[in-house]
Amino acid sequence: MATNMAKIAQAVLGIDVGTTAVKAVVVGVDGEVLGEGEVEQAIATPRPGWAEQNPQEWWVNAGLASRRAMAAAGKRVGVVAVGLTGQMHSSVFLDGAGEVIRPALLWNDARTSEQRRHITRTLGLDGLREMLGNLPLEGFTAPKVVWLMQNEPANYARLRTLLLPKDYIRYRLTGDYATDPSDAAGTLLYDVRRRRWSERALEALGLDAGILPRVAGSTQVTGAVSAEGAAMLGIARGTPVVGGGADNAAGAVGCGAVGEGVTQASVGTSGTLLLPTREPRVAPDMNLHTFCHAVPDMWYLMGTALSAGGALGWLRDVVAPGTSYEALTAEAAATPVAGDGLLFLPYLSGERTPHNDANARGVFFGLSLAHRRAHLVRAVIEGACFALRDSLELMREQGAAPAEARAIGGGARSGFWMQILADVFNMPIAAAQSAAGPAYGAALLAMVGCGMFGDVESAVRACVRTSVVAEPDAARAAEYDEIYDGYRRLYPALRERFAAHAGTGADGGARRRA
Ligand code: XUL
Repeated sequence: MATNMAKIAQAVLGIDVGTTAVKAVVVGVDGEVLGEGEVEQAIATPRPGWAEQNPQEWWVNAGLASRRAMAAAGKRVGVVAVGLTGQMHSSVFLDGAGEVIRPALLWNDARTSEQRRHITRTLGLDGLREMLGNLPLEGFTAPKVVWLMQNEPANYARLRTLLLPKDYIRYRLTGDYATDPSDAAGTLLYDVRRRRWSERALEALGLDAGILPRVAGSTQVTGAVSAEGAAMLGIARGTPVVGGGADNAAGAVGCGAVGEGVTQASVGTSGTLLLPTREPRVAPDMNLHTFCHAVPDMWYLMGTALSAGGALGWLRDVVAPGTSYEALTAEAAATPVAGDGLLFLPYLSGERTPHNDANARGVFFGLSLAHRRAHLVRAVIEGACFALRDSLELMREQGAAPAEARAIGGGARSGFWMQILADVFNMPIAAAQSAAGPAYGAALLAMVGCGMFGDVESAVRACVRTSVVAEPDAARAAEYDEIYDGYRRLYPALRERFAAHAGTGADGGARRRA
């Protein structure tokens, strides 16, 4: 028995409840990826602008993804800790028996504009800055709870626990209601500076603090896997589950963006640009998110483009269903920069940074008879990169001068996409050896949690290797500077039309300068 045990290599399991897929990765103590599993899932849009998923489906998919990763890793691997990560903000509503009350409202669901205005009126801009350090945006969790209260009172009456996606998996694995500071930060109910739930905000909004889970550290053990959870994941009963982090924070850990000045560009369904900071820095008009990092005592500034890879996925489904991304980008690579005058605003689900406007919509600008599918593909990728450049410019306004960005997400696997990002940012783009992104970061947090490393920085030093995947080309960067200038002028020209078109006539945008 002892000899058999000695042959089992220790490993950790990271699980990422993403939007288009649940991913699982088994990582050895030296940081090597031993097995991966992925299960795709759909988003339901019961009405335009709505985006929902069923938490039970996440649970089933997490089990399948994990069993696939374990099978790929082989029998000689023993998981000693589990780390969790997932999409931010999406609301899991549970009743007193721990049952899901209704499908979760996702981070890119735009139904809560009225609730967002209600929260702004109730807390005031100064109150928001002081209590929460963030503006209310449709995607954040608090407006979703207020929406439930105002629109589905019977469901709201049953609400006893509010969880984030990764924390629903934790609950199913261990029976614990817990989250971590990086995910708590995205609820808009958490005082990000003081790292605790904001009693003042909860009271002002009439929300019961009792619905919130306890907040554990991202590297702290929160509970142990039950017999049912063990069978589901294909690991041993009693395996500790570590706090983990929001997908952007865990992704930053996975690519080593854990120190000041190391920027992360995530190109998943959404696109985000994240800048770690040693202090909670709140921009004067809160036009970037200020969230807690999964690294203890660190924060980050982040800009979010709601549709990045998601925009390319949409285009593919519409014009080239079944075609691989590789084939599509190979076609697009043969077209010129800004595909002969074609621009794309990627606001398919509205936009957060920098416009904070749920009414904004996608636009192809400059279409002509000359344009083919390949031009559309290029324009969509360039539009997503320009949307990230908007966040970069806001960070520069904050005095940040990043010299390199580390890319994660599906887009990071595309040389074409990364070259455009390097040219649009005029900056080298690096990527980590593991493409598992947030799941890999969650695995590193699990390593720290079970004592393999003393802190997150040591785990990153030992496991994360990055290399530059795209260098900017000076001539193309200059060309993109000019095109970006044209891109930036489009939204202000359309802003009022977007609002009128949404049928509201109202100002759905953020009061950036209010
Ligand atoms: C960040 C955000 C998205 C989701 C995607 O604020 O809403 O990046 O985390 O999973």
